[in-house]
Amino acid sequence: MSFFTGLVLGIVLGLALMVSFKLLERRRSSKKYQLAIATAALSRLTLNELKKMFSKETFPRWIVFSENHKVAWLNYHLGKVWPYLDEATSAVIKHMVEDMLEPYRPAIFSSLKFQRFTLGAVAPQFVGVQMIDTTDEEIVMEVELQWDGNPKIVLAIRTAMGVTLPIKVKDIGFCGIFRLVFKPLVKELPCFGAIMCSLRVQKKFDFKLKAVGGEIVSIPGLAGILDVMIKTSLTDSLLWPMRKVIPILPGDYRDLELEPMGTLMVKLVQAKNLLNMDTFGKSDPYAIIFVRPIPKQMRKSRTINNELNPIWNEQFQFEVEDLATQKLTIRIFDEDSLHTDDLLGCAQVPLNKLKPGILAEFWLTLVEDLENTMEAKHRGQVHLELLYQPHVEDRRDVSTRSMTSLEREITRTMRQHSVHGSPFSLPPSRPEQHDFVRGVLSIKVLRAENLMKVDSVGANPYVKLLLKKSNQKKTSRVINKNLNPEWNQSFHFLVEDAQHDMLVLEVRSRGTFGKHFLGRCGSTLSKVLLEGEYEASFKLEGVESGQIFLHFNWISMSLQRQPFNNS
Ligand SMILES: *[C@@H]1O[C@H](CO)[C@@H](O)[C@H](O)[C@H]1NC(C)=O
Repeated sequence: MSFFTGLVLGIVLGLALMVSFKLLERRRSSKKYQLAIATAALSRLTLNELKKMFSKETFPRWIVFSENHKVAWLNYHLGKVWPYLDEATSAVIKHMVEDMLEPYRPAIFSSLKFQRFTLGAVAPQFVGVQMIDTTDEEIVMEVELQWDGNPKIVLAIRTAMGVTLPIKVKDIGFCGIFRLVFKPLVKELPCFGAIMCSLRVQKKFDFKLKAVGGEIVSIPGLAGILDVMIKTSLTDSLLWPMRKVIPILPGDYRDLELEPMGTLMVKLVQAKNLLNMDTFGKSDPYAIIFVRPIPKQMRKSRTINNELNPIWNEQFQFEVEDLATQKLTIRIFDEDSLHTDDLLGCAQVPLNKLKPGILAEFWLTLVEDLENTMEAKHRGQVHLELLYQPHVEDRRDVSTRSMTSLEREITRTMRQHSVHGSPFSLPPSRPEQHDFVRGVLSIKVLRAENLMKVDSVGANPYVKLLLKKSNQKKTSRVINKNLNPEWNQSFHFLVEDAQHDMLVLEVRSRGTFGKHFLGRCGSTLSKVLLEGEYEASFKLEGVESGQIFLHFNWISMSLQRQPFNNS
């Protein structure tokens, strides 16, 4: 048998074996029973039997085939073994799909299992097969599969209230291109050690949900929640570059897995002009932020009551697997104690806009639906600061010498995470909550331009500086009769928790009859923590004109608690 025929046989056989080995190593005793059934069925489909089915005469030489023939040939053989496969693999696939759905299970369901799961008599069809790359180490191919199946699938959902609802999943229509990597290549059947499987393009994925004997309306919105959960679980866990690695022969296949490649720090600074959803008072906004839509990996900000221009200045951390394709999503809701919370708007940033180690600021326009950004209604904007740090492998990396304290801090926490086993096991504990960055912040108020005229002399401007969290206030001197004043005045603040503090600055004019407002601006300390020193101008808000120029300087006083930072 030639190598390629072995490979093709392996692919078909692989469909059957795909799941079982993974299962063998993982299943606990409670599930041994199902496993026994699955293995018994699988054992009927031995290698030798398969070899007989694909006897030398019927087994054409794969390599000289045209694409169409390959597809026809594969479909013919898949059709032939499908009844065995269905029997052999249904129990196994059932557990695999349960495992796949579990991380995406919303909290309102206490459990989610299959009461029934068989793939049905209709085999999937290969629409196209293409070899992408063939080397001595691996074979990369893409197969387009279409499945209009008649499976018998009944999903049993247990709600938090203890009610079990059986839901039938029917009329599945699926079409997509899978990328399969077979690696490493070996001599004996099935000719490869593991399969890496990823959905490269999803063309279609439809299904219908129907309650069995009950009312699907007994929980409002249930069908919608399930529909979204099933669809996002497939795309988030399998859509390229996400993948499943299925070991066939024992071995170490870590190089096929997609590993987290870095950490994303997200600072939710503030939002502006949010919608007002409340009849009495204003909205009570909070935000949900995530890179992957897995409940455990989603973060929630605190709620700010009765405010359409909330300032959170809260920091979150996420693992990033692939900077080129992943996105950060933010959803802002109005907390409502009586009803379900209303969506005020959402926004998305593709992470490919970020450069490693460089702080990026975004003012994102909120929309109702990310698919349809051409919306007329004005929902306000949200202000985010993002910093992406790739994982550093070598701790004595030369670059650490030029790092600022925040970078060192970030690198240190990242290392701590990578030491404690798999990053997938737990959501990252939030180091940002108990790591205090201390230091001295110096603000030099340089000058302002184009201030508003408030009386006959113009204005007598001065500046009030406030550090919001530590509640420290300072005031500049007054410069009389000048709309373009130059102060050149420095202010020093001792800051205890720089990551959560924020500078708010207000320009005022002192007149004979009290003071006038000339505008306001604000800034987090993220940039000065990263860069140590910089100059910036801010447009004054709340007035028609005006701009102020500031110089920032930071001297870190962080305690060096980590032994290897000193080495
Ligand atoms: C403020 O500093 C700048 C730059 O050092 C200098 O050119 C300017 O004359 C100073 N202005 C005042 C009023 O001291």
